[in-house]
Amino acid sequence: MTIIVTGGAGFIGANYIFYHLNQHPEDRIICIDKLTYAGNLSTLAPVMEKENFRFVKADICDRTAMEKVFSEEKPDAVINFAAESHVDRSIEDPSIFLQTNIIGTSVLMDCCRKDGLRFHQVSTDEVYGDLPLDRPDMLFTEETPIHTSSPYSSSKASADLLCSAYHRTYGLPVTISRCSNNYGPYQFPEKLIPLMVINALNGKPLPVYGEGLNVRDWLYVEDHCRAIDLILRNGRIGEVYNVGGHNEMRNIDIVKLIVKELGKGEITFVTDRKGHDLRYAIDPTKIKNELGWEPETKFADGIKKTISWYLEHKDWWEEIISGEYEKYYERMYGER
Ligand code: NAD
Ligand code: TYD
Repeated sequence: MTIIVTGGAGFIGANYIFYHLNQHPEDRIICIDKLTYAGNLSTLAPVMEKENFRFVKADICDRTAMEKVFSEEKPDAVINFAAESHVDRSIEDPSIFLQTNIIGTSVLMDCCRKDGLRFHQVSTDEVYGDLPLDRPDMLFTEETPIHTSSPYSSSKASADLLCSAYHRTYGLPVTISRCSNNYGPYQFPEKLIPLMVINALNGKPLPVYGEGLNVRDWLYVEDHCRAIDLILRNGRIGEVYNVGGHNEMRNIDIVKLIVKELGKGEITFVTDRKGHDLRYAIDPTKIKNELGWEPETKFADGIKKTISWYLEHKDWWEEIISGEYEKYYERMYGER
């Protein structure tokens, strides 16, 4: 198979490329990435020289550029990871989220439409909005209505709706996965776990929003990659699959765990995020029953592996936090 992977210089896309080439060395992968602030070519160094890998720097919204890659490569399938992915940035300025996440997805599906190519959309549990903190019995299923809170989740939900429309109207063979919060190597340091690890290592305060009582359902990135690969190969066309590991944790408990593991880090409570979703929790029954998927990495092991990775890859994140990120950090948290 020849597969176009968009957004492969980012966190989950890069982990997916490593996973896929390891599992299916006979496949060819073409990574398309615009290399925004969140994309890092150095992340892809381990695969850059492989004969069955090609990197193309391009914007998924650029129709001409996309048509060119598709006609050159004649792919069998597309997995769309490319997105603006950070909620806080979407609150600052939604416009690029609408452009990349909605328009970009439609451009890619238009390219697939001509030849009826298989299209997988990497979506998020955030399209379901949030759940109450005091109702542990309530979980997101694939039937939960879309009910978004942030410009980010609204743009992802819009893309999901377009995917369903392309399936129904044009018969495009589409699947959608909606995963919970991922953690693991190569995650950009604006996100909770790497931000807290790096701040603790650098002697900076650990900024917890509100009282830190919001709950997220954490999944090790490789488990997400395995789910996507399974859906691509064996998923039912036109279906949505929720992906999550029954691993709900309060933000404050994650941050305390990081402080304990590192033996340092000073927690500070800061102004809450606007519209902050209270709780996410996935019911993964469908993907378990239909595709036999279950998470393999327990949080206690995954978080240790992740912290060790950041300790061992200072070069990777030191370069990142000295770029555009520095200005973003100052806007968000004040001087470091
Ligand atoms: P990320 O921000 O780390 O990476 C996004 C990548 O997309 C970057 O390499 C960036 O350069 C690229 N990109 C952005 N705009 C582009 C454009 N217009 N054209 C081409 N490339 C572009 O994001 P991530 O955390 O790896 O998330 C990947 C996908 O998974 C996203 O679609 C996100 O919505 C979804 N998702 C993420 C999580 C999570 O916890 N991180 C959970 C569920 C779903
Ligand atoms: P984040 O990693 O941004 O993922 P998402 O908002 O997509 O779930 O944030 C995870 C949780 O951590 C979320 O409830 C917001 C909270 N958070 C903080 O408390 N402090 C921070 O500095 C950040 C970035 C997030």
